[in-house]
Order: sequence, then C-alpha cells, then structure tokens
Amino acid sequence: MWSWSLWSLLLALLFLHKVYSTQDDDTLPRIAVIGAGLGGASSAYFLRQLFGKEVQIDVFEANRVGGRAAVINIDGQDYEAGASIIHKKNRYMAEFASQFNKSDDRLSHSASFIGLYGNSGMVFQTSDWQAVSLAKLLWRYGFDLYTLREWTKHSLISKFERIYEFQDRGMAFTTLEDMLRAMSDSILNMTRHSLQDVLRDAGLSQRFIDELAMAALRNNYGQTTSAHGFVGAVSLIGAESDLWSVRGGNKQIVELLLKESKASLIEAKVTSVILMKDELGTGSIAYEVEYEKTHADPNNNISSREYDIVVVATPVSGTKHRISFIDFPNPMTPFVQDYHTTIAMFVQGRINSTTFKLSHQDEFPTDLFTVSPDLFFNSIGKLSSVNPGSRSEATGQKESAVWKTFLNKVPTEEQINQLFENRSDLRLVDWLAYPEYRPGNDLPPFMLYDRLYYVNAIESAAAAMEISVIGAKNVALLAFNQWHGHFDKIDELHLEIGEEVHAEL
Ligand SMILES: Cc1cc2nc3c(=O)[nH]c(=O)nc-3n(C[C@H](O)[C@H](O)[C@H](O)COP(=O)(O)OP(=O)(O)OC[C@H]3O[C@@H](n4cnc5c(N)ncnc54)[C@H](O)[C@@H]3O)c2cc1C
Ligand SMILES: *[C@@H]1O[C@H](CO)[C@@H](O)[C@H](O)[C@H]1NC(C)=O
Ligand SMILES: *[C@@H]1O[C@H](CO)[C@@H](O)[C@H](O)[C@H]1NC(C)=O
Ligand SMILES: *[C@@H]1O[C@H](CO)[C@@H](O)[C@H](O)[C@H]1NC(C)=O
Ligand SMILES: *[C@@H]1O[C@H](CO)[C@@H](O)[C@H](O)[C@H]1NC(C)=O
Ligand SMILES: *[C@@H]1O[C@H](CO)[C@@H](O)[C@H](O)[C@H]1NC(C)=O
Repeated sequence: MWSWSLWSLLLALLFLHKVYSTQDDDTLPRIAVIGAGLGGASSAYFLRQLFGKEVQIDVFEANRVGGRAAVINIDGQDYEAGASIIHKKNRYMAEFASQFNKSDDRLSHSASFIGLYGNSGMVFQTSDWQAVSLAKLLWRYGFDLYTLREWTKHSLISKFERIYEFQDRGMAFTTLEDMLRAMSDSILNMTRHSLQDVLRDAGLSQRFIDELAMAALRNNYGQTTSAHGFVGAVSLIGAESDLWSVRGGNKQIVELLLKESKASLIEAKVTSVILMKDELGTGSIAYEVEYEKTHADPNNNISSREYDIVVVATPVSGTKHRISFIDFPNPMTPFVQDYHTTIAMFVQGRINSTTFKLSHQDEFPTDLFTVSPDLFFNSIGKLSSVNPGSRSEATGQKESAVWKTFLNKVPTEEQINQLFENRSDLRLVDWLAYPEYRPGNDLPPFMLYDRLYYVNAIESAAAAMEISVIGAKNVALLAFNQWHGHFDKIDELHLEIGEEVHAEL
C-alpha cells in the first residue's frame, strides 16, 4: 500500500531542492492544461491572471468543452444533463456569472413539491401550500431542521468559507489533506467518518438520517449515508433553498472562462505525459505531452509538445481517456479514486400511475427522492428547460413533461415501464460521475510531481462546480508560487493572527 507520509517526505525533498533552483522572474513557463471542463477552464483563467498575458497556455480537450456541465436536447429543448444546481454561497460561480453578465440570467430553483419514497411507498410529501408543507416537515422531523441549520452554519459553512480567505491572500496547498486541515481539523475529520456517524454526533435523529439525509445522498451522489461526512454535508446544503443555474446552460460559464483565458484550445486526447530527461543536469524539469488530434487523419493524428508546467484537470481514474505517466521515478497514480457510475435517464412521458398509486398525474411530486438503498432508482425530477419561457419552448409545448431519473445502473425495459406508463422519448447519459466516497479513503495530492498538478484531487472531498473552481485556483496559485519561489505562501495552515481573530468576530 502506498503511503502518503512517504510521499509528503518526497515532496518536501523536491521542495528543498527547488529553493536553490528557482526560476528567474523573467522566464515564462509553457503551460499545458489537460481537460476543458470547469476545472480546466478555470485553471487556464486563473493561470492567465497570475502569469500574465505573455505566457503560452494550451488547453487539451478530448471530447467537448464543458465536460460534466452539458446540456441534452429533447424535443427541441435543452436541459441540463450533468451539473445543474449552484448554491447561493458559491462565491466563485456567482462572481463568474456576474463578470460574464450572466447574473440577470439566473434561473432560480426552489423545490416546490417534494416526495420521499421508500420500499413500501411514499414516506413523506410536502404540499403545494408552503404553510402546510412547513407544518408537515416540523411534525415529522421536529427540531432536526433547526439543528441541521445551525450545524451546517457553524460546523460547515463558516469553516469551509475560510478557503476563500486563504486564496484571496494567494495561499496554496500541495495536498487536499492540508487544504481541508487549513479550513479546520473538524472538516478533515468529517472525511474519515460516515455521514450517519457525523450527523448522530451533531444531534440529528435516526429518522432524519434515514430519510432526508439518505434522500440527499442518493440524489446528489448515488450513494448512501455511509458515504463520508464531508460530501454528505455538502449534499445536505444542496438540499436547501436559494439554488440557481445559468440561463442557456451552466456550460456557458466554462466556455466564457476558456475564452477569457485566451488559452489555445487543442482538440485532442492526451495519451501520455512524459518526464523528460534532464540531459544538461541543470535540475530543471520539463514534460512532453503526447496527444491524438480529434479531427485529423487517423494515420497522422499523433503529435507532441513540450511544457514546463502541466495541469491535469480531469479525473485520472474516472475517465474514458486514460493518461499514461511515463519515465517517472515512481508510479504516478497510486491513489484509489474509484468513480461512481450514474445513469441520467431523460424521459418525456407520463408517470406510471399504478406503481405510484396516482389518480391524477398532478399528484406526483416535482421532485421524488428515494430513501431505500435497494430501490433501483435514486430520484425522479420534473425538468424545466435551460431557456424557460422562450418561444421555442412555448411552441414545442407537449402534454407530457420531461423527467430526469438518476440510477446507478442502466434500467431494464420492465423497470422503465414501472416508472413511466407512456413515453415519447427516452435518452440515457452514462456518467463516470464522482468518486465513491468511502470514509477514510486516501485524499490525493494536488501536486503529482514537481510542476505537475492535479485539480481533480479535490473531488475526493466532494464533487461540485464551485469545488472544482476552488481546486483550480489552488493549483494555479501553487504553480505560480512554486515558479516564483513564494514558498511562504505554500502549505501555510494558518492565516495571520490578527486576521484570524477578525474572522471569528
Ligand atoms: C450527473 C451529475 C450531476 C451533477 N450535478 C451537480 C450539481 O447539480 N451541482 C454541482 O455543483 N455539481 C454537480 N455535479 C458535479 C460537477 O459536474 C463536477 O464537479 C464538475 O463539473 C467537474 O468539472 P471538471 O472540470 O473537474 O471535470 P469534467 O467536467 O469531467 O472535465 C474534464 C474534461 O477533461 C476531458 N478529458 C478527459 N481526459 C482527457 C484526456 N486524456 N485528454 C484531453 N481531455 C481529456 C473530458 O472530456 C472533460 O471534458 C454533477 C455531476 C454529475 C455527473
Ligand atoms: C459585460 O458587460 C460590461 C458592461 O456592459 C462589458 O464591459 C463587458 O465586456 C461584458 N463582459 C462580457 C464577458 O460580455
Ligand atoms: C471525528 O468525527 C467523529 C464522528 O463525528 C467523532 O466521533 C470524533 O470525536 C471526531 N474526532 C475528533 C478528533 O474531533
Ligand atoms: C487516432 O488514430 C488512431 C488510429 O491510428 C485511432 O485509433 C484513434 O482513435 C485516433 N484518435 C482520435 C482522438 O481520433
Ligand atoms: C406500470 O407498472 C406496473 C407495476 O407497478 C406494471 O405492471 C405495468 O405494466 C406498468 N404499466 C405500463 C403501461 O407499463
Ligand atoms: C400514450 O401514447 C399513445 C401513443 O404514443 C398516445 O396515443 C396516447 O394518447 C398516450 N396516452 C396518454 C395518456 O398520454
């Protein structure tokens, strides 16, 4: 088993070595970013801000810009197929939206009619009437809702938000573990225990854990309350109100970041990153990036370029396009980051009224979450298009709604019929979606080797758009601080005392 403490030691040695071989301030690095999802596009954007306009930045994309932020077209309308919801506290996403003049284009999401569904039918339903819903929630979950609110505010959000203060000061971390520790030891501890244990310690009831917490985990990550407490807490915050998305599709943020970064987009699949031999013995490091161009003659699609800094902005294990790391002294991907398969099924049609005992389609919630791990589907939600109210939507209006069902496996025909009694369209999107969140799993490093960085390490804490951007900013700052020898801004776990006191007041 690979040991991270050994790894840290190795990094520390590399580090010391770097102190004596820092670049002249006027040499410009050549930078490669692998992947043009939100993580890669925001890396390019922050790298440009930090290194300035002269630096060469190439972004490689094997498939489509946007990655897991993507839309799917059904009957003439676009719907979010992957990442769909942004939380009101997501600072970077909100900044990007306003900077790109997309803040007037916010679509707000408020769950109106929620159902929790178990093995033996509906466990709980809200009502169309807000006051009645509130009364019903209080009746069933009592004080839990208040406890949850206080707990997320004090034990999670206020600590998590400290990362913004570190990043505002240009500070970066070489490992995910240290980044979480800098937020707070208790945040790091949450990744080592199951959500059920963490919530029990926070004073929440078993009923809350088995129903609301389970529903949130199954819907957001296809997993259960035995997933670790940090991702679980993120998932519960995602169940709050004040959620939004970008009109026209969240992927536009990725496209705009990439454009703004003025990086060159290379449409190609990177196959390997090769550590080049230091023939002159200068101690300097360079990489050769080998890739297959997408729109090229298959007999002549292979190419390569040399870089000083390489940023990997795609999962190294959860990808259909594996990257080989060649000629490194150690194996480069020792960490376990199993990716969870989530099937997003889009159906235009009618809910099966026999299965859900409906006398009318309107009795079916707009968001149905499941609470039993042995049910074959995780949630069913009624969708609205990314361009609501548009003329094309009005004219394309059909009697039956479009539903998104999340599942962990491709459903059988019989299972589909159990959910829908009539359908005019059915599409499946198969995502390698996010890691399996086992408590105590190794947390990967942001730095794989000298000047070779890994944005998606952060997904082992929790996958979300805002969190990808935080990972990207960390990597950009890390690359910058190391290039210029700003070692005082790396792995510093505490903010200056004065500022810390201020933040607590
Ligand atoms: C079904 C689903 C629902 C989600 N819902 C939400 C949500 O509501 N809210 C939220 O905040 N987050 C959500 N997420 C999580 C969110 O989508 C991710 O956290 C985020 O989009 C990850 O961005 P990324 O850039 O790190 O990775 P990706 O978006 O996966 O980007 C990686 C890119 O790299 C490319 N690539 C891979 N290998 C290579 C290679 N060898 N060479 C070149 N290019 C390569 C890929 O094609 C891809 O475009 C959801 C995810 C899924 C799957
Ligand atoms: C947003 O609007 C401002 C003011 O109109 C403009 O200067 C800026 O270029 C716009 N930004 C983008 C990304 O369109
Ligand atoms: C870590 O979290 C677990 C689960 O909530 C808790 O029981 C334990 O006391 C915590 N440990 C520390 C050192 O805080
Ligand atoms: C490049 O060409 C090879 C065949 O020579 C093919 O297998 C591969 O898929 C091509 N790569 C891309 C990205 O199209
Ligand atoms: C609806 O689901 C029931 C099982 O709950 C199944 O027997 C029936 O065939 C389904 N209806 C249709 C039209 O597929
Ligand atoms: C079900 O589908 C059939 C054929 O597509 C259609 O004729 C019928 O009107 C639909 N029924 C309902 C209730 O939507």
